Amino acid sequence: MAQQRLGIIMNGVTGRMGMNQHLVRSILAIRAQAGVKLKNGDTVMPDPILVGRNEAKLAQLAKAHAIARWTTDLSAALKSREDTLFFDAATTKLRAKLLRRAIAAGKDIYCEKPIAETLADALEVARAAKAAGIKHGVVQDKLFLPGLLKLKMLIDSGFFGRILAVRGEFGYWVFEGDWQPAQRPSWNYRKKDGGGIILDMLCHWRYVLDNLFGEVKSVSCLGATHIPKRWDENGKAYKADVDDAAYATFQLANGVIAHVNSSWCTRVRRDDLVTFHVDGTLGSAVAGLQKCFSQARVNTPRPVWNPDVPQPIDFFKTWSEVPGDTYDNGFKMEWEMFIRHLFEGAPFKWTLVEGAKGVQLAEAGLRSWKERRWIDIPELEV
Ligand SMILES: NC(=O)c1ccc[n+]([C@@H]2O[C@H](COP(=O)([O-])OP(=O)(O)OC[C@H]3O[C@@H](n4cnc5c(N)ncnc54)[C@H](O)[C@@H]3O)[C@@H](O)[C@H]2O)c1
Repeated sequence: MAQQRLGIIMNGVTGRMGMNQHLVRSILAIRAQAGVKLKNGDTVMPDPILVGRNEAKLAQLAKAHAIARWTTDLSAALKSREDTLFFDAATTKLRAKLLRRAIAAGKDIYCEKPIAETLADALEVARAAKAAGIKHGVVQDKLFLPGLLKLKMLIDSGFFGRILAVRGEFGYWVFEGDWQPAQRPSWNYRKKDGGGIILDMLCHWRYVLDNLFGEVKSVSCLGATHIPKRWDENGKAYKADVDDAAYATFQLANGVIAHVNSSWCTRVRRDDLVTFHVDGTLGSAVAGLQKCFSQARVNTPRPVWNPDVPQPIDFFKTWSEVPGDTYDNGFKMEWEMFIRHLFEGAPFKWTLVEGAKGVQLAEAGLRSWKERRWIDIPELEV
C-alpha cells in the first residue's frame, strides 16, 4: 500500500472560501486524516502550494498551518511539473482567465463557482478543458449539505409522492458597512468586480434543482438593488450597482415549479440561512443546511381559516425531524470524490460542463430581469 502525492496549486486561499472551506476544512483536514484512501489500499496525500498576491498574508497563512510551500509567482507555479492540479477560489472576475491559463499549462482543474462571468467564457473554458483532455471539477457544495442529503433520501424513498413545488429561501442581512463592518466582501456589490447575487446564487440553484428535483427548463427572474450605498473594507463609501436580491421562478422538466428568493437584504425568521420547502402529494419537507423536517400526508394537520381567533395550531410542532448520522464537511466530501476521480477514474459528475450550466442559468436570470420575460434554458453543447 503506497502513498501517492497530489501537488495542488491553490489560488485565492487568503479569501473567505479559499481559506476556510478549501484549505482548512478540506485539504488540511484530508492531510490530518492521512490522505484519501483509494480502492487498492493506496492513499493520496495532497501537497498544496499556496498562491496569491500578498506575500505577507501568504507567509502568515503558511506558517499558521505549517504549510511548506507558497509563492506570489503563479506563472512559475504553473510551470512546475510537480503540481498537476490547479485550484481557484479567488474572485469570480478573474476565474475564466486563470482557468484558461492553467488548462494551457496542462493542469487538471478544480474550482469554485461560477466558472466564468458569461456563458460564452464558461463554454470556452469547458471546451478548452475537453480539447486538452484534462480532468476537471467544480464546487457544488450545497449537494453535500446534511440537510440536502436528508432531503435527497426522502426523494429517493418516494416519500413525497409526486413533487408539486419547491420554495427556496436564501439570505440574511449583510451589513452595509457603516455602523458595523459588512460580513461579505465589497466586490460582491460592484459590477466591475464580478459582483451580484444573481451571478453568485443562480449557479447554486441550477445544480440543486437539476440534481434533486428535475432539469431547469425556464426561468423568470426579478432582481433588485435594495441597498444602493455601502461601505467597503476600508470604511469608504461606494455605490452598490448590482442586484442584492433576486426573486426567481423556475419551471423544471417534470412539471415541478420552483421558486427561490435570494437576498442579502432580509432578516432571518426561519429555520436556517437557506431553506428548501418541498410539497408533494404524499408529504412535505423543509431542509436547511444541517436539518430536515418532514410531514407525511397522514400527519398533516387540518387548519381552518378563522382570523377571529389566535392560531390554535403550533405548526412547527407538527413536523418530525429526519434523523441522520453526523456528516463530514461537504466541501471536503467533494474534494475527496474529485481526488478519487483523478487517481482511480471514479465517476465525477460535477465538471466544468455542469459549472457552465450554472453560468447559463445566471445569465438567463439576468436577461429575464432586463427583458421582463421568461427565458428558456436550452441544452448546452460543449
Ligand atoms: N461555494 C460557495 O458556497 C461559495 C460561497 C462564497 C463564495 N464562493 C465563491 O468563491 C469565490 C471567492 O469568494 P470569497 O467570498 O471567498 O471572496 P474573498 O474576497 O473573501 O476572497 C477572494 C480571494 O481572491 C483574491 N483576489 C482578489 N482579487 C485578486 C486579484 N486581482 N488577483 C489575485 N487574487 C485576487 C483575494 O486576495 C482573496 O484571496 C467567488 O468566486 C465566489 O463566487 C463560493
